[in-house]
Amino acid sequence: MRIFRNPRQLQSHIGKIKRAGKTVAFVPTMGALHEGHAALLRRARRSADILVLSIFVNPLQFGPAEDLDRYPRPFANDIALAKRERVDIVFAPGIADIYHGDRSTHVEESGLSRGLCGAARPGHFRGVTTVVAKLFNIVRPDSAFFGQKDYQQYKVIERMARDLDLPVKVVMVSTVREKDGLALSSRNAYLSAGERATALAISGALSQAVSDIKKGKTCAGVAGAMRERLQAAGIAQIDYAEIVNADTLKVPHKGDRRLVAAIAAWVGKTRLIDNMLITRE
Ligand code: PAJ
Repeated sequence: MRIFRNPRQLQSHIGKIKRAGKTVAFVPTMGALHEGHAALLRRARRSADILVLSIFVNPLQFGPAEDLDRYPRPFANDIALAKRERVDIVFAPGIADIYHGDRSTHVEESGLSRGLCGAARPGHFRGVTTVVAKLFNIVRPDSAFFGQKDYQQYKVIERMARDLDLPVKVVMVSTVREKDGLALSSRNAYLSAGERATALAISGALSQAVSDIKKGKTCAGVAGAMRERLQAAGIAQIDYAEIVNADTLKVPHKGDRRLVAAIAAWVGKTRLIDNMLITRE
């Protein structure tokens, strides 16, 4: 396994790999790797000759009052997990390797990124699309893997790749959960034992929503029930608890079959997100 910090050096190394006719699969992350990231790496490992993992806590996607400074950075553990998952190349740049001080170009998706997390975190998706477009240009992957855990992010990146004709296949991998349903997240490390128990209301409310929609209940009613369940568990600050069309991420029409139930809520000082896909009969 090789570790690169410098984008130019990695670009020229990947150039050699591509000229040798090999395919490249890419998993971008912010590190603090867990079994959710491992699932992406395993899926990617099967799909190409060379597996590239990036670890970069991207300042552009954090708001001024967000957790950029305290975001966990357990680099040695991440490298051990990367080795275990047979990663070929780790790209771990510093901030100055990625962003020029006088940079003045951004990539912005302006449809799918408006609602849900985009409404609660202004500028967040612009930061994500800008860094992912840059990473795609550095790594030039044939395929790139994103978790359903961040469903809106996956849809935004898929749209960006389509709209900009980026020659990469964007693939979604299902959310990995703890046995009790809690979606794995690097931010779970912030939770106390009590908060972790409270956080279970999020996946609980989503599971309930899936079965209620399948029983034929209305989206508005089911969304209201999700809120009530979160509040009953002591979660007061809810950024959103919605049922949306899984492709447009907008309020569903009556006949829409593919839906997603999505929640972003604060457990103490930690913002957690989760979602579940629903196919309506
Ligand atoms: P990060 O939060 O580190 O997540 C990296 C990838 O892992 C994302 O595609 C995310 O959806 C996926 N992931 C996280 N938890 C998961 C889980 N429980 N199950 C399955 N997949 C999971 O998302 C980012 O970083 C950044 O925004 C990034 C795309 C790297 C751009 O900076």
